Amino acid sequence: MYDKKKTLEVDRRNIWHPFTQMKDFESIDPKVIVRGEGVKLFDADGNEYYDTISSWWVNTLGHCNSRIAEGIKKQLDTLEHVNFSGFTHPFAAEFIDLMTGFLDKSLSKYFFSDNGSTAVEVAIKMAFQYWQNRKITNRTRFIMLDNAYHGDTIGAVSVGGVAEYHRLYKPLMFNSIKVQSPDCSSCPKRRSEFTMDASKCDCNLECFEHMEKAISGHADETAAVIIEPLIQGAGGMLNYPAQYLKKLEKAAKEHGVLVIYDEVATGFGRCGTMFAYEQSGTRPDIICLSKGITAGFMPLAVTVTTEEVYNAFYDDYFSHKTFFHGHSYTANPLACAAGIENLKILKRDHLPQSNRIAMEHFHDRLKDLRKYDFINDIRFTGFIGAIDIVKSRKNKTPFPPADRIGRKIYNISLNNGVVLRPLGDTIYFFLPLIVTVDDVDEIFNRTEKVLNDAISG
Ligand SMILES: Cc1ncc(COP(=O)(O)O)c(C=O)c1O
Repeated sequence: MYDKKKTLEVDRRNIWHPFTQMKDFESIDPKVIVRGEGVKLFDADGNEYYDTISSWWVNTLGHCNSRIAEGIKKQLDTLEHVNFSGFTHPFAAEFIDLMTGFLDKSLSKYFFSDNGSTAVEVAIKMAFQYWQNRKITNRTRFIMLDNAYHGDTIGAVSVGGVAEYHRLYKPLMFNSIKVQSPDCSSCPKRRSEFTMDASKCDCNLECFEHMEKAISGHADETAAVIIEPLIQGAGGMLNYPAQYLKKLEKAAKEHGVLVIYDEVATGFGRCGTMFAYEQSGTRPDIICLSKGITAGFMPLAVTVTTEEVYNAFYDDYFSHKTFFHGHSYTANPLACAAGIENLKILKRDHLPQSNRIAMEHFHDRLKDLRKYDFINDIRFTGFIGAIDIVKSRKNKTPFPPADRIGRKIYNISLNNGVVLRPLGDTIYFFLPLIVTVDDVDEIFNRTEKVLNDAISG
């Protein structure tokens, strides 16, 4: 039914894949994936793969959820798209009506776009213009964390802190204020051998002093702080305690700085609560959401803010306060239909809380990896977990970069029916909320085999 040979021919000839050194494909063909079901993907030869990274963190309810598929099919014959500037439609309204039941009540103004990076661009421009519209023109800069990842467009890159991805583009970037990451895995004050569950951290958060200094020292020129709540994802799945956000909220309020939460990766249940920020008892001025917003079916994003921010834009046309920003696929009705069904499922099934047993079993299987000397750190928050691979934990010896151990593990994992995609030498899991205890066991049985093969081979 699928022409695998033709797919690979065209792929080699014409396709440039994201975040991929295409030369790596010279020796290995990319897998040709033709079907997804639950936690598994299937290739053109009928091989199965546990999708442990939820297809780049978007797929929250497993593949091909039939209710979401039905919702989109119903929408297809009614309205596929309409421009959202001047028109509205019931599908956006129903989606937002459901969303308001999940987000803090203070977050009431929704701006649609279509991916995580655009949600962040919107937040950056919104925060910047908020101050300009209020004639406070010196607040133009952003405070961000080292290891931060907020997307690949130039605004998002300008508040990014992953040297490997972002360094080269410096001449194109605006100049943000970078603060040391609160990453527990590299914290010199950490008492235990492994990070484990950072939400249970009992430290005094000495690391916050860097953020405190940045906010108090740069308040006059700062529009906003942008941060990934609880976990810095692409920076290495680095987790930090929720109390950090409490301190951040207090300091930002004291100095009148806006706070942007980027929950593009952590939102929609992945951290064990609908949104990661709920675990901190704080609320942001702006929040960016995408990825799990349609459970992986359609590209959609929202940047949500408060009445206060919104009101700074609300005026007569010739006051020149309009937010001049928009994307062609804004609030696409098919994407809204997917979002509606996704939210209905999350609400009806009380996910992610109702799946705590599988989540805790996932943590237990991660903790059990302590037995291997080649694992230097273990950490998890909700359905996200990570391990760092080293030559020897006793001596903290990393693998030489030339070994590309992460890449090697990835290649071996695909031959063992499990996707272990690395971030450098970190192997991570981004499990869907519907994963079962049996799935977790199968994923970890396969993972342990892959790791042992890679290290000994
Ligand atoms: C925290 C965070 N923000 C923004 C983005 C960018 O999202 P997208 O890839 O949809 O542009 C990502 C993507 O991984 C992310 O993890």
